[in-house]
Amino acid sequence: MTVYNLGSINADHVYAVPHLPVAGETLAATALQRGLGGKGANQSVAMAQAGAKVVHMGAVGADGSWATERLQQLGVDCSAVATVSAPTGHAIVCVDPAGENQIVLFPGANQALPDQVLTPLQHCGAGDWLVLQNETNLQCEAAQIARQRGARVAYSAAPFTVEAVQNMLGLCDMIIMNAGEAAQLSRALGCDLGQLPVPVVVVTRGAEGADWHDTLNAQQISVPAHKVQPIDTTGAGDTFAGFLIAALHAGASTTAALQLASAAAALKVTRPGTADAIPSMAQVQAFMA
Ligand code: RIB
Repeated sequence: MTVYNLGSINADHVYAVPHLPVAGETLAATALQRGLGGKGANQSVAMAQAGAKVVHMGAVGADGSWATERLQQLGVDCSAVATVSAPTGHAIVCVDPAGENQIVLFPGANQALPDQVLTPLQHCGAGDWLVLQNETNLQCEAAQIARQRGARVAYSAAPFTVEAVQNMLGLCDMIIMNAGEAAQLSRALGCDLGQLPVPVVVVTRGAEGADWHDTLNAQQISVPAHKVQPIDTTGAGDTFAGFLIAALHAGASTTAALQLASAAAALKVTRPGTADAIPSMAQVQAFMA
């Protein structure tokens, strides 16, 4: 069984700043760290760290072979990562002393994926998952193929736009959002989360934990967050999503999968960086113990 992830691959430039910049401000960073990022790549790494077999579908530019190599080193199958003429995507990430971040994205190759990156989906079927976020093109096309072939589709609605989410609502089995995004979507559609046309709606609430809404059976499961001292929240949502999907894929109960995901995300925020800072399954299990 395989998890197919159609996702972005970015070079993250992470700047430690005394506070998040405001309009018109020039601000000196106190540190700079560069590494692999992108919501897609982060989720692939998290799923691989959690023990899943992961095929990443995405693209880099001619300047991005280092990123594909790093993704592979972290346990992800990159045979479906294309090299395109657009430059590799990148992100300017500012992180303040409380670990909060602010991100500017340059999508680059992530929005220039050729259809051929979806070729691995010809092998997917029941028992497999397709994972999607909002940083690439081809999401709807990928979801349609996966569903026709009987795979389940998990969609992280980030970066959030109501329009992108509306296009995906009828095409996914699970949608994962943070609390702000969930509130925006509820307002835009004029309905409660439990009424969304998606079987499972997962809402992450940072220090307040996470909620799982089973909209088909009108049931909700909530897990608390672990109390940690945040260093860098970048990629925490991706870590949560990756561990959650990998655990469900491996047959864990909903509650166990949520607890694992919550612990993995908590551990991530204690570490600076993005993909390279995502913990391993052994580290998450030790943290939980
Ligand atoms: O979710 C965090 C990620 O968002 C970063 O790695 C950055 O690349 C952006 O995609």
